[in-house]
Amino acid sequence: MQIRIGILNISDRASKNEYPDEPGQRIKSVLQEWLKGPWDLAYKVIPDDRDLIARELCQMADEQKCCLILTTGGTGPAVRDVTPEATEQVCEKMLPGFGEQMRSVSLAYVPTAILSRQTAGIRGQCLIVNLPGRPKAGKECLEAVFPAIPYCIDLLEGPRLETYPEKISVFRPGQS
Ligand code: MTE
Repeated sequence: MQIRIGILNISDRASKNEYPDEPGQRIKSVLQEWLKGPWDLAYKVIPDDRDLIARELCQMADEQKCCLILTTGGTGPAVRDVTPEATEQVCEKMLPGFGEQMRSVSLAYVPTAILSRQTAGIRGQCLIVNLPGRPKAGKECLEAVFPAIPYCIDLLEGPRLETYPEKISVFRPGQS
């Protein structure tokens, strides 16, 4: 089964080229480092617009058949931050444990980790995970939850994700 992963960088300024698209590119290189075997990438940079985010998440999940979408940015309390709302809007099931784990681990890095409202959920056979926008924060959060992601995709009857264990190990119950 083909593996396609979506990365959606949500940022008003990056979408207008006022900022470099660093968070999305950082997540892409992290995945290239961790994932064993071939996978395809769906990639986009869009502004903090709820309807646009929802539409793009649906497109990546339903049309492009991504098994996983990682969003970056728009999770904080700022007026324009609406990524978690757009995520909830398109998901049938929410997985609040992802946000809880990311905030908990992130508090060891910065006290402002509690400002992130990041969450995760399932649309069809696609897992959507929100990461914060600072490039370093995105990696810190992905490291905290990635061990559970391949098994979640197994449960959604998606493709089997394998990693280089020396880079990141994943957990599948019943396997040592
Ligand atoms: N999490 C980690 N691991 N490291 C960080 O530096 N920054 C926080 C938080 N989570 C941070 C983090 C800050 S300052 C904010 S405002 C929120 O993420 C929301 O970021 P976003 O709006 O770019 O998504």
